[in-house]
Amino acid sequence: MMRAGGILKLAALASVFFLAVFLAFELIEINFHVHLGQLFARYTPTEEATTKQSRYKCNLSKPCPEDHFSFKMASGAASVVGPKICLEDNILMSGVKNNVGRGMNIALVNGRTGELIKTDFFDMWAGDVNTLINFLVSVEDGTVVMMATFDDSATKLNDEARKLISDLGSSNINSLGFRDNWIFVGGKGIKTKSPFEQYIKNNAESNKYEGWPEVLEMEGCIPRRQD
Ligand SMILES: *[C@@H]1O[C@H](CO)[C@@H](O)[C@H](O)[C@H]1NC(C)=O
Repeated sequence: MMRAGGILKLAALASVFFLAVFLAFELIEINFHVHLGQLFARYTPTEEATTKQSRYKCNLSKPCPEDHFSFKMASGAASVVGPKICLEDNILMSGVKNNVGRGMNIALVNGRTGELIKTDFFDMWAGDVNTLINFLVSVEDGTVVMMATFDDSATKLNDEARKLISDLGSSNINSLGFRDNWIFVGGKGIKTKSPFEQYIKNNAESNKYEGWPEVLEMEGCIPRRQD
C-alpha cells in the first residue's frame, strides 16, 4: 500500500517537473518572438516613415489625390526676391531660373497633361499693358493660368486686362493696386471663381518690409481636366 502511494507521488512529481520544463520552453519561445517583433517594430516603420516623410511633390505638406496636379507658389518679396511657381515638382518660374521680372508673372499649363506651355512676365510699372492683353487673349480654352506678382503689378493694369483676368476665375484682380501682393491659379474658360487666390494690400501700417507687404504663399491640388 505504501509502495503504490510512493510510485503515485513520484509520478505526480515527474509530471509537474515535465510540465514546468515545457512551460519554461514555451515562455522562452514567446520571449524570442516578442524580441524579434520589437526588432521589426523598431526598424520597419521608421524606415517607412523616413521615405514617406522625405517629401511630397513641390514640398507640399501633404500629397495630392490622383488626377490632381500638386502646386506651390509664392509672390515676390519686395523688389528683391522674385516669385516662385512649382507644379508637379518642376519649378516653372523663379529668380534662380532667371525667368521672372517686375510685374505680372504668368505660367501657362496644359490642363489635361500638366505640361508647361510657356512662361512670361509683364512689367506693369513701366511696360505696355497691351502686351499682357494680347498674351491673355491668345490663351487657349482649358489652359491652367498661374499668376504671381513681383514688386508692382498694378499701375498699368487697365479695365480690359482686369476683365480678362477676372474671366479666368479671379475675385480680387479688380482691387489689385500699387505694390499689392497677389497669387492666383485660374483657368481659361472656367465658369466659376477659382478657390486658389491669395491677396494682400500694400499698407504702410501693416507692411512687413518698408514699402512692400509680406510675401504670399499658397499650395494645393489642381484637378486634372478630364473632358
Ligand atoms: C524642396 O525642399 C528642398 C529642401 O529645402 C529643396 O532643396 C528643394 O529644391 C525643394 N524642391 C522644390 C521642388 O521646391
